[in-house]
Amino acid sequence: MLLGSARACGKLILLGEHFVVHGVPAVAVPVTAVGTTVRVLEDPQGRPAWLDSPFTGDVKVAGERLLDAALEALGVAPGMPWRVEVQSDVPVGAGLGSSAALSVALVRALSEAAGVDVSIDDVNAQAHALERLVHGTPSGIDDTVVTYARALAFRRSDALGDPTIRFLAPGRTLVLVLGAVPREGTTFDAVAAVHARKAADPARFARQCESVTHLVDSGIRAFESGFRRSLGELMDQNHGHLVEVGVSNAGLDRLCSAARAAGARGAKLTGAGRGGFMVALAERGKATEVAAALESAGATTVLTTEVT
Ligand code: MEV
Repeated sequence: MLLGSARACGKLILLGEHFVVHGVPAVAVPVTAVGTTVRVLEDPQGRPAWLDSPFTGDVKVAGERLLDAALEALGVAPGMPWRVEVQSDVPVGAGLGSSAALSVALVRALSEAAGVDVSIDDVNAQAHALERLVHGTPSGIDDTVVTYARALAFRRSDALGDPTIRFLAPGRTLVLVLGAVPREGTTFDAVAAVHARKAADPARFARQCESVTHLVDSGIRAFESGFRRSLGELMDQNHGHLVEVGVSNAGLDRLCSAARAAGARGAKLTGAGRGGFMVALAERGKATEVAAALESAGATTVLTTEVT
């Protein structure tokens, strides 16, 4: 018998990743073309809640940890005879929010199965607590955009308070073409590497944060006004900052150059970097060309999504 079920989408950071961990604003959009579905079913063999997922290795271990933590947060006895089935087409560890999608879908499906009413803000808070188990000290932008499934500007608070969130509507539909290359390391490693850069040269890092803050503020205006040319230029500049803090790699740089050469307005890595996805802003008529250019440049996966 089905006791609860939920689907959560993927996400994409359009501007400001990594710097957002250090208090800089960032812009993220939902990627509804991919998602994670969690279904809670009665286990006929009466086994205590267990994760039935396609994951293997470390990802499976992390998923099981998330399940245990979500059950505990919802006050559900771990002995409940539930098969917690996960189906996902969000590429794992590639910048599209796979762990946030799993966290949000788990909280929603388990709370329904347990008969616990959880407000959307509580889903966000619980998913954020789960994200902390996987990523250490995440900014919260991933779980927030996945919970609300709306484009937003996000800024984490200086202290332990709530972040500032502003929902955004694009002035014009944005066509985004995404390409991936194999990932080196984890989000945790990439975030730690940026912390190390900051510690090594705090004054330089502070100047970079200031530049990225201006860039994201301009990006929010361009996003809301539908000025795709400026938004694309700002994405290019943002990629340059991410290169400077050491989170790009040769594969991502190659895909970004290929997208620009094929007529994209701008391109940058998205998410933690060191592989995973990049995102290009394309005119509708150019999206096929940009996608083909990414494939020719060695992208292992190419996706197109729209922000409306
Ligand atoms: C990962 O999707 C985004 C990062 O900025 C980390 C975070 O915000 O927690 C790299």
